[in-house]
Amino acid sequence: MFLIWSLLAIFYCYWYFQDTRSGKHRPPGPRRQPLLGNMIQIAKADPFFSHLAFHKLSEKFGGLMRLKVGFQDVVVVSDFKIMQDMLAKDVFSGRHFEGYMKERSFEKDLGIIFTSGEMWNVLRKFTVKNLRDYGFGRKQTMENTISGEVKQFLTYLNSSLASSNNSSLRVERLFHLSLLNVLWSMVGGKTFSHDDPQLLRLLKINEDLMRAGNFGANLAFAFPFVAVCLPSYTGVADLRKINGVFQEFIREIFAEHRRNGKFASQPSSFIDVCLNEIAKNADNPSSYINEEQLMITIMDLLQVGSETTGNTLSYAILFMVLYPQVQQNVFDEINSAFPGDSLPTYEDRTL
Ligand code: HEM
Repeated sequence: MFLIWSLLAIFYCYWYFQDTRSGKHRPPGPRRQPLLGNMIQIAKADPFFSHLAFHKLSEKFGGLMRLKVGFQDVVVVSDFKIMQDMLAKDVFSGRHFEGYMKERSFEKDLGIIFTSGEMWNVLRKFTVKNLRDYGFGRKQTMENTISGEVKQFLTYLNSSLASSNNSSLRVERLFHLSLLNVLWSMVGGKTFSHDDPQLLRLLKINEDLMRAGNFGANLAFAFPFVAVCLPSYTGVADLRKINGVFQEFIREIFAEHRRNGKFASQPSSFIDVCLNEIAKNADNPSSYINEEQLMITIMDLLQVGSETTGNTLSYAILFMVLYPQVQQNVFDEINSAFPGDSLPTYEDRTL
């Protein structure tokens, strides 16, 4: 027993010495422990929400703070100026992409979000150019799609309010169906009614992904072996299943567009262009443009596009609930700028 304690003490002293020496070149942060890193300090700061824990700790250690989350080295940036400088530099454009996360893309570096370097560059240009050709960022097409969707959304909003006797409405995920519809019009070339089974299936996939991604994700990140040993507890098993469903969904869409047979002669959407490029590059195994690559790119767009925009809109509502005077000002401005039932257009942005 004495021997074990002595060995542990020697190990700790050695680790402490090494960590202090290498720490000289790291941003400030709380003292870390072997194996757990700063997990205890993080849990003490906020046991449930890591972003709140990071916020509390950074009040003490500054806008650029280093942490060790289990086995992972993390730098937390919470200073606006530092963040702005970093985002402007290519060297910071990579993303953490390890272990269970890779299952989403067949254990390969694919798509836009998790790639870097030349592949990222080729794919990003391909996506932006072709989305533009099908209306993304183009005034007329975007305006028609969005105002059509806003009308559908207002009908849905009014009927939801009526069925709750005008009492209350859950705002979380309120906008996601409409946002997915607009995204789908850019990617798949058509819009759906809100009760369309394909659209509802996509909504469910997105919801399930977000739920599985949150549950236990911190543990799987901190200790990657836990994700391997306890996939159900960390949510990795759910994530695996939903990623499979999402991939199948895109495969079915590809098959639908292929059956249509017009993707080469009369391409009418980003998906058609993708299918055409896949066919053109079929004999070139070194091309970045292939079926798996474009499947993951489309998953990237559908996944991040609705979450970010949906959450931004939900926060805008939350802030107006918290600050009723701002809410009143917004209400008055909308009423005076768009009297009656008129909807805003691109031209109104200059008002
Ligand atoms: C209010 C809405 C949105 C917010 C706040 C937002 C925010 C962000 C942020 C902060 C990044 C990371 C930038 C970086 O790493 O330098 C990002 C990347 C990205 N966003 Fe958005 N976004 C929004 C809407 C959208 C929409 C509608 C789409 C899809 C059409 C989209 C697609 C992407 C993609 C593909 C990336 C990865 C880009 C890359 O790695 O090169 N985003 N977004």
